[in-house]
Amino acid sequence: MSGRYARILGTGSYLPETVMTNHDLELLVETSDEWITQRTGIKKRHIAGPGEDTSDLALAAARQALEAAGRRAADLDLIVMATTTPDRVFPSTACLLQQKLGVHGCAAFDVQAVCTGFIYALAVADNFIRAGQATLALVVGAETLSRLIDWTDRSTCVLFGDGAGAVVLEAATAPGVYSTQLHADGDYADLLTVPYGVSQGYDRLRQGEAYIEMRGNEVFRMAVNTLGRIVDETLEHNGIARSDVDWLVPHQANHRIIEATARKLSLPMARVVVTVHEHANTSAASIPLALDVAVRDGRIRRGELLLMEAFGGGFTWGSALVRY
Ligand code: COA
Repeated sequence: MSGRYARILGTGSYLPETVMTNHDLELLVETSDEWITQRTGIKKRHIAGPGEDTSDLALAAARQALEAAGRRAADLDLIVMATTTPDRVFPSTACLLQQKLGVHGCAAFDVQAVCTGFIYALAVADNFIRAGQATLALVVGAETLSRLIDWTDRSTCVLFGDGAGAVVLEAATAPGVYSTQLHADGDYADLLTVPYGVSQGYDRLRQGEAYIEMRGNEVFRMAVNTLGRIVDETLEHNGIARSDVDWLVPHQANHRIIEATARKLSLPMARVVVTVHEHANTSAASIPLALDVAVRDGRIRRGELLLMEAFGGGFTWGSALVRY
């Protein structure tokens, strides 16, 4: 195979220091460690501290990824940031990250696809590199979802956490990223949403009363069905068999959703990177966080084939097939 591709040179991640366990949540709402563990697999989540912004989490993950890649921030020609919890309305969190990295001039922008954000951002960077418009790209997923949570709503507050993950992509003559598949269907906008924004209900937003709302049951069913379909689409598109995939690196929303996708791939859970028990759902950060954990603990090795997939608000969903 010859041509121009994007290859992952290095990964990084960051989790805020404060940990909130299921037992801590038992003090806030009528719930139990048993219920949360059984329904979701989640045991704990990290929560960003006061004054700790999404761009701060992103910075720590980005620095690690650059170090692992053996590249300097000054050599980046593209920064793509996936987040649903930007520091400000504008400038983009990518620009604020660029400033914190102390670099100037390269293209920097945010991508908003909620929990599918990292797959969308990876696809954008991959296409920039394939097209020759970028050579060294930083792709970050970072979130402070705790700031969008109604801590009196037990149906949502137990599910989410804060964190960041990053990858450095460089142009290469072999994949790397084989393909990305992206989809969306705005008809489902109201099933998983923060129903206020700048042009709708700005007062609620300003007063800190804009929270995640979700019809959990319906989201669950749609996620399982949709992720099953995207696994087939990815395998067919690349002409590979399920047995060719070495690792599933899924979005970490719910252990039962992850298990259903692994079954679809006939992959034993030992070949699935699972972090949801420790991180909860960190939205756009969850896949690069999981990837970095498994790279650093030595599970994922160079040359192995990774299937990443995600489903989230929008609805959006997508996948990436990547040789690490
Ligand atoms: N603790 C205890 N009980 C809770 C609870 C909590 N934290 N949250 C909800 N319940 C209750 C409900 O009130 C309901 O009680 P009722 O039967 O008396 O009305 C009962 O548990 C069952 O609720 P239900 O929503 O049917 O549970 P579920 O099995 O669907 O599990 C989710 C709920 C949220 C865990 C599950 O639907 C889910 O994971 N959905 C997908 C969420 C997701 O991944 N979103 C992000 C996608 S990127």
